[in-house]
Amino acid sequence: MTHPVVSEMTAEEKAHLLSGRDFWSTHSVERLGITSVTMTDGPHGVRLQRRSDESGTPATCFPLAAAVGASWDPAVARAIGAAIAIEARAQGVGIVLGPGVNIKRSPLCGRNFEYYSEDPLLSGVLGAAHVEGQQAEGVGASVKHFAANNQETDRMQISADVDERTLREIYLPAFERVVTESAPATVMAAYNRINGTPASANTWLLTDVLRGEWGFRGAVVSDWGAVADPVASVRAGLDLQMPGTGGRSARLILDALADGSLDETVVDRAAARVLELGRGAAEMDDRDVDFAAHHALARTLASECAVLLTNDGTLPLHQGTRIAVIGEFARTPRFQGSGSSRVAAVDVDEPLACLRELASMRDCDVTFAPGFTLDDAPSTEAATALRAEAVATASAAEVAVIFAGLPDTAESEGFDRSTTLLPEQQSALITAVAAAAPRTVVVLAHGGVVTMEEWHDDVHAVLDVSLAGEAAGGAVADLLFGVANPSGRLAETIPVRLSDTPSYTNFPGEQGHVRYGEGVMVGYRWHETAERPARHPFGHGLSYTTFGVDDLTVTAVGDDSATVTVTVRNTGRLAGSEVVQIYVSTTAGPVRRPVRELRSFTKIRLEPGESHRVEFSLSRRAFAYWDIRRHGWVVAPGDYTVQVCRDAATVLTDQVVTLTGDHTAAALTLQSTVETWTTHPQIGPELLELLAQVPPDRGLPEITPELLRMVGSMPMQKIVDMLGDVLPAPVLDEMMTRTETEA
Ligand code: BGC
Repeated sequence: MTHPVVSEMTAEEKAHLLSGRDFWSTHSVERLGITSVTMTDGPHGVRLQRRSDESGTPATCFPLAAAVGASWDPAVARAIGAAIAIEARAQGVGIVLGPGVNIKRSPLCGRNFEYYSEDPLLSGVLGAAHVEGQQAEGVGASVKHFAANNQETDRMQISADVDERTLREIYLPAFERVVTESAPATVMAAYNRINGTPASANTWLLTDVLRGEWGFRGAVVSDWGAVADPVASVRAGLDLQMPGTGGRSARLILDALADGSLDETVVDRAAARVLELGRGAAEMDDRDVDFAAHHALARTLASECAVLLTNDGTLPLHQGTRIAVIGEFARTPRFQGSGSSRVAAVDVDEPLACLRELASMRDCDVTFAPGFTLDDAPSTEAATALRAEAVATASAAEVAVIFAGLPDTAESEGFDRSTTLLPEQQSALITAVAAAAPRTVVVLAHGGVVTMEEWHDDVHAVLDVSLAGEAAGGAVADLLFGVANPSGRLAETIPVRLSDTPSYTNFPGEQGHVRYGEGVMVGYRWHETAERPARHPFGHGLSYTTFGVDDLTVTAVGDDSATVTVTVRNTGRLAGSEVVQIYVSTTAGPVRRPVRELRSFTKIRLEPGESHRVEFSLSRRAFAYWDIRRHGWVVAPGDYTVQVCRDAATVLTDQVVTLTGDHTAAALTLQSTVETWTTHPQIGPELLELLAQVPPDRGLPEITPELLRMVGSMPMQKIVDMLGDVLPAPVLDEMMTRTETEA
């Protein structure tokens, strides 16, 4: 049935509605009371551009997705979504574009700061919480970039060549969770192609999977400039092309309607979905935003995201310590990314000032030296002089705290990185300061992973802050002095060498194609399966307290699910938060599985000595693989080890659960292999018995295990052909018929 408003619209009005009015808004149809909806970028703060050449009106810059990933806490993502919505509403913005839930396939992707994790479950849980928080405050979300947009090189044309199982197990589940759990107002179709077909004109992706399988009811919007053929895109399931094309797309749609190559019902459906965006969008809100409260929130949330990578006890800093703060980033912080997610931050904390404030309350003396410049090209003499000054400052102190990281220019949408190295000036500085100072702490600000190999073993603590938004400086001060206890865990593996990473030889592709040759072995799935130890594994992160787990119980529920309960205890002397990570490991089924996969997690805050019993429900998806023969999820019968892990490389306790699983035996045919026949639970023994009874004079060789192994992969037809009537056709037919009814 046609939407009541759409049925009153002219073809022209409908066609116009399917592309933007301008860069950031949809068309209005005044005679029908259809209002325009304004979209802006997010997802780390509202980026409302009044003109396309300005950086946006002031807004709070919250921790970026890379940082939120490390919080492992949906409450953090939800709070950010909600606060952004409040700021958006105050500016009349109906949709904030985000969150980005693409998988970090390579540490080199230039846009990794905008994505949560290398793991689909973690990405999906956080993305769903962000959408929920934002939409509960009346502002629509746009989960992006759908799908397989995992690099920036050649981003508008590259074909991500990914096999079906890998798409289903790694690249689609985060979108699936966001869509099915949080019903985002829009999904943004990506720039790239998938197996040759543009994502923005991909019927399988936008219609069959997104709407057919996942039940998406909102509108599909294109990434900005993604559409090449507006008619093909609408036909495939795209509703709104952005930005506007000055009427060109509408004319093409009208032509296609006129010549019958586009069905009017398709246009009606898309128009109805765009109309609904207007109905759902927030009213302009004239309450003032409490930016001070949002800044304070940003500081608390940022402290939930930072990961303490190493610490020999130097942190937290003690009362009365003489501290040398080193690094230009201490006064000119790097706290956010570049490109479309860049926010005109309201109030940026200066880390040095925040440290001084807390230091003064603890009788700590703070000195400072910049140590390096943020531009790439100071003269060698200038760099040497800055380093010498920093070394002198550090050697006069008890602890040197170095603020290092990637400069703004190192990463952005539009290009990928070619290295994980820090700028040379900085690594040389860290090595020199570490040799001179009694103790050295490194605080890292960066979006994509950086290597620490050159100096990792020379320093006493590393605090990885990622890009934690405008209040990162305050959060770092809180964490260094122990006002807050670090509780972040890595959402992305830090490899020893770039060449240890799974996509190393297949990133970023060539001649228009990037082959996802590593399949499902992405991130820790690869490092653990291929035994390539990481510098710091996925899930790693220290605290100022310690935790223990015990009393694990795992109980099967039905044929394909389980419940898991475990006690977690704060065994140290400070309050803190632990992330309980549940992985599943199995060799069941016909496909190669990663050594372990994250299947559930929770973050829990505990007072010293406190313990808590936590329960997890593992549904069938926690045990399933995508079966390319059945085009569906299958739980293979067999044993599954449920592991409670400290991180992806460290199992704390585990237990095996045996699942009946799905009935997977396929009907036997003459094309099935001899092995399939002989191992079939009913037919196998019967067939072997039949063969054993063949009289010796028929020339049949003795059926030994060796023989069966040799002929195991031959289709049964070949054996029948060779043996003639030794295996009578009616007997085989009867056996095959029986397996049809069983399957
Ligand atoms: C980016 C999107 C963004 C859009 C609008 C594109 O270049 O890929 O993430 O939302 O621009 O700025």
